[in-house]
Amino acid sequence: MKAQDENREVLPTGERYHHGIALYESVYRESLENPNGFWSKAASILDWDRKWDKILDDTNAPFYRWFLNGKLNVCYNAVDRHAKSGNRNKAAYIWVGEGGEEKIITFEGLYRRVNNLSNALINLGIEKGDKILIYLPMILEAPVAMLAAARIGAVFSFVFAGFGASAISERINDAKAKIVITADGGYRNGKILDLKRTIDEALVSTSSVQNVIVVRRSGHQVEMEDGRDIWYHDLVRDGSKYVAPVELESNDPLFILYTSGTTGKPKGVVHGNGGYAVWVANTMKWAFNPNDTDRWWCAADIGWITGHSYIVFAPLILGLTSIMYEGSITYPSPDRLWDIAEKYGVNILYTSPTAIRTLMRYGEKYVKMHDLSTIRVLGTVGEPINPPAWRWYHENIGSSKAPIIDTYWQTETGGFVISPSLGLGLPPLKPGSATFPMPGIDPVILDEEGNEARIGEKGLIAYRRPWPGMLLTLHNDPERFVKTYFDRFKGKYYCGDYAVKDSDGYYWLLGRADEVLKVAGHRLGTIEIEDALLSSREVAEAAVFGKPDEVKGEVIVAFIVVKNEFRGISDIASGLRKQIKSELGPIYVPEEIHIAETLPKTRSGKIMRRVIKAVFLDEVPGDVSTLESSASVDEIRAAIESFRKQAQ
Ligand code: WT7
Repeated sequence: MKAQDENREVLPTGERYHHGIALYESVYRESLENPNGFWSKAASILDWDRKWDKILDDTNAPFYRWFLNGKLNVCYNAVDRHAKSGNRNKAAYIWVGEGGEEKIITFEGLYRRVNNLSNALINLGIEKGDKILIYLPMILEAPVAMLAAARIGAVFSFVFAGFGASAISERINDAKAKIVITADGGYRNGKILDLKRTIDEALVSTSSVQNVIVVRRSGHQVEMEDGRDIWYHDLVRDGSKYVAPVELESNDPLFILYTSGTTGKPKGVVHGNGGYAVWVANTMKWAFNPNDTDRWWCAADIGWITGHSYIVFAPLILGLTSIMYEGSITYPSPDRLWDIAEKYGVNILYTSPTAIRTLMRYGEKYVKMHDLSTIRVLGTVGEPINPPAWRWYHENIGSSKAPIIDTYWQTETGGFVISPSLGLGLPPLKPGSATFPMPGIDPVILDEEGNEARIGEKGLIAYRRPWPGMLLTLHNDPERFVKTYFDRFKGKYYCGDYAVKDSDGYYWLLGRADEVLKVAGHRLGTIEIEDALLSSREVAEAAVFGKPDEVKGEVIVAFIVVKNEFRGISDIASGLRKQIKSELGPIYVPEEIHIAETLPKTRSGKIMRRVIKAVFLDEVPGDVSTLESSASVDEIRAAIESFRKQAQ
């Protein structure tokens, strides 16, 4: 593997923090050899109302149930117990608006706000198990809404503010959400995102929503529908209401987060209360080893799993202070991250390789404007980090001494699964490797047939045993849950990534092995984009794939065949872009749309997406059979030839 061989060297950063991996090894070994004792201890990171009967119930595998019959409330653990302790006046969040405003909210302040919103939700008729859709920008009401739902046992589903109207209505309909919590608008690059209008559009094709709660953020004029829409500030106006946290069973659902898979319909990943909370809090401690006085900055969006787990639940459960920033990392200037890091004395910064590569392009000049000496630890997430970006981050942002915690995980895993463990004696780091599994994680690299791959051989990464943070199921679709994650390799969890293990036992995560794209760290399904293209009047056939990109990892390329009656019409592509932007959202808009005469297909009519991609990227492999499983080698060769001619 190229990525690995180039980076055999072990960086000095590892040595500085390196206390030997003996502690890690013994903790890891204990987690596998004595799981009951191990998880029982790890679970004491939370306050439980009732102790579990069983650590892991696997009688209905793969529907694993952790801390069976344990009772708790995650909001209580994240908020109340700090609001009642010496942490009462400690900042839970230091929030920075895109325009530079600052708000600091203490644990006690968070407690008050959460109680008030919980109370308002109850008054609107929300009960345990009801679904709430949250479509908010990066403002403090976002964590408040998540916690207020968790407090009363309502299940929230957060939709990232970059999604469009049909993506939202699809999620509302699947979850049967009763309430939507949104804002009039949010700020992005100095402009206002018209969130309320997008919700109004989405609600045209839904029927379950009774009320829309609207936070006033941008202050611009929005339509409020009588009887349905309510201003947030009116709802919580008279309030210091106490709402008792509802006692939940460990495996009651906490939230549903939709993510892309290999079909057009997004998957509703369901996470529970007990296992999930134990997992995120412990993994944060193991990986980052935060101090009580640290300022932690997870610079992800709260609408993705990274934000759920490491802006909201893990740091709050641990009673830490988080920085939360509303806007774009290059607004008003490319030194925005460094400016905030200096101003607030950030100690741990956690961001994505795409953000690092974007800022790296602007050069060191913007970094040198700021004193980043408070930064002690760095982290990355969301996609593989290429060694040059790793080094730049380490040298320029980490003053050549902060270790980089490259955390590998997925929406489904709840929290980190492979990552260096600073809290357990950091291993020497190799740029581009997420190093070793977290305690309790038992990975294996398999070949296509399910045999264990050799050391150094690229394969598919799977897991031989469950862990507390793993998804409970897919909402409304338990069969798809079993099929998606446990059918490919019987009895093992598998979810679409290539990986290799080197001779030192380090894991290198090498990107997706399925029809899922990673564009600027966002997980997008090629089939979702194809479906959107096909739903337009003009498009007869569509194939979407990712093209490697130096900054974003990959960008979206679409090949389409236009229906006869629309041939020759100019500007079809820009109309399609507009349509995708409003339906699916701006993150889904293809960078390139190419019009073809025909697309290569198998005899059974399946479009050969990978053949198109290979020809387009000039990467036709010697062994073309790997390109398409349902066609003969001759068919594929013929398809390549004819498509090559068209492409010329
Ligand atoms: C996919 C999951 C993890 C939270 C945010 C993304 C890729 C994630 C890494 C990493 C290499 C990574 C994988 C994975 N990925 N982190 N450190 N190194 N690849 O969650 O949207 O569910 O995406 O992101 O391909 O399967 P997600």
